[in-house]
Amino acid sequence: MADLAVSLLSADFSCLEKQLQELKEADVKWLHIDVMDGNFVPSISFGFPIVKTLRKAFSGVFDVHLMIQEPIRYIKEFAESGSDMITIHLEACEDVEATLRWIRECGCKAGLAVNPHTPIEEVYPYLHLTDMVLAMTVQPGFGGQKYIHSVTKKVETLHKYLNENGFDSVLIEVDGGICLETALEAADAGSDILVSGSSVFKGNIGQNVHDLLEAMNHS
Ligand code: DX5
Ligand code: ZN
Repeated sequence: MADLAVSLLSADFSCLEKQLQELKEADVKWLHIDVMDGNFVPSISFGFPIVKTLRKAFSGVFDVHLMIQEPIRYIKEFAESGSDMITIHLEACEDVEATLRWIRECGCKAGLAVNPHTPIEEVYPYLHLTDMVLAMTVQPGFGGQKYIHSVTKKVETLHKYLNENGFDSVLIEVDGGICLETALEAADAGSDILVSGSSVFKGNIGQNVHDLLEAMNHS
């Protein structure tokens, strides 16, 4: 069964406490926190002080997506701020292997993300150091974009490779453009965790969470 990770990027920060409460009431287990540095991606979002503060208000999985150049410089701070999963971009690291190892040494699960146009085969050499592969289904940097359908094929390829090569414990996450129309396509391809931001926070949060979970698990 696929599960939902809610991206905070589209939350209303003026009433964040209330929105987090609604997520808890909807039984959301994963909170996806998008960290952007204005360098690897054009936008800037939030850093580890925010993660640390949020930790007091949400007890589920903190799924921290680092869209930053050379993330190895900041892993320790994000680990100490309460991250559970730290995902780095393959395209942003000079030494992917050292970065993944460092995440685990800091006590977190290690995620490896690839942009929509990066071949999925590029993650294969790192799977023994990886707890989750994140296939971006939009260009990283902004919420509210459209799902890039060609990534579905990459997820299928990865899912097959993981199963055939003894990596079935590695999770697959997709991120970007997940809504009622795209959730099933992504889940059917083999995704375990679907990230959604704008489709959760537009309108009634509890209802949206319920509908998305139903859409991704409705075969
Ligand atoms: C994009 C972020 C996503 C984004 C998803 O760079 O990594 O997590 O917030 O937002 P939606 O669901 O609106 O595409
Ligand atoms: Zn993200």
